[in-house]
Amino acid sequence: MHSLQLLIIGAGGQVGEKLGRAAQRRGHEVIAAYKSKAPDANFSEAIVLDKTRESDVDRIVSNFQPNVIVDTAALHNVDYCETHQDEAMTVNRDGTANVARAASRIKAKFIFISTDFVFDGAGAPYKEESTPNPLSVYAKSKLGGETAALTISENSAVCRPAVIYSWKQSAKLYTANSSSGKPLNFGAWLVSQLKGEKEVKIVTDQITSPTLADDLAGAILAIAENPLARGIFHTAGTTALSRYDFSTQLARKLGLDENLIRPIESSVLKQVAKRPINSSLLSDRIRRELGYTMMSIDQALENFAAAVHGEVLAPEA
Ligand SMILES: NC(=O)c1ccc[n+]([C@@H]2O[C@H](COP(=O)([O-])OP(=O)(O)OC[C@H]3O[C@@H](n4cnc5c(N)ncnc54)[C@H](OP(=O)(O)O)[C@@H]3O)[C@@H](O)[C@H]2O)c1
Repeated sequence: MHSLQLLIIGAGGQVGEKLGRAAQRRGHEVIAAYKSKAPDANFSEAIVLDKTRESDVDRIVSNFQPNVIVDTAALHNVDYCETHQDEAMTVNRDGTANVARAASRIKAKFIFISTDFVFDGAGAPYKEESTPNPLSVYAKSKLGGETAALTISENSAVCRPAVIYSWKQSAKLYTANSSSGKPLNFGAWLVSQLKGEKEVKIVTDQITSPTLADDLAGAILAIAENPLARGIFHTAGTTALSRYDFSTQLARKLGLDENLIRPIESSVLKQVAKRPINSSLLSDRIRRELGYTMMSIDQALENFAAAVHGEVLAPEA
């Protein structure tokens, strides 16, 4: 395998940082582009980049001439996006198009991180060739990003993960919010609530395929390293379960009190944006074509628990 030069956009975010660390462990060079929150790791280069600024995207891409560009950057607070439609479209669709154009100009591979929310929940479990039908502004903006990636750049791939969670030792993760004001990462949030003996209400009627960020990073690298890997890849955990069941399994694996987790139905939450009832994904293509098998919930929670307990199953660089 050749060593690659990867430009990661959104490198201070949950997935961007895990990806950067994993890429470095595999001998790749990482150029970390972040908007305001710098990555908590040492990469070859760390530069500020807002992907909505097309001339900045062009300048950085032509300066560094990376082989692969991975765009993890997004506004992904689903309710925020519902009431900030223009901003969501500007970042998630138009900003992605800026990056796709720049990648195409220098013939770099372009990998865009999308979401299971492009589906409406009526036809799960979804394959890569299933027809999207986004229910929310967020989902429409991400589908716009997918379309931009796949139509502007011939050498592009789209990853679709779901409910991404991870742990890192730095306490920063639990205090920092992303630019759309979302407290980072459902799994880490849940641990902090349960450790603080706080009761939480979790929905029983939204089913997804929760994805460990470390596992997603492995999947993105498998795509980056294979010159023939193009098009859409579902890159989610292989177990479909409700948020409630995910939460109780996580609590049990970590020896936390699952009685603090109260089941509720989505209708009680009165969430602003519509969510799919069941957006679970089948991640077979990446296993079949690239030999990368996404983790089951048991394997992923094993890794997550080891990271929480400071062990090395999901190592940080
Ligand atoms: N988290 C989930 O549960 C989930 C589920 C499915 C799909 N996804 C998708 O997975 C991807 C990664 O998610 P994540 O969990 O890593 O999110 P995250 O931790 O919030 O990271 C996203 C990053 O995007 C950056 N960003 C926002 N606007 C930007 C802009 N205009 N230009 C450049 N960077 C910008 C943010 O930087 P600042 O904070 O510095 O502004 C942030 O570091 C996203 O594309 C998301 O849509 C996430």
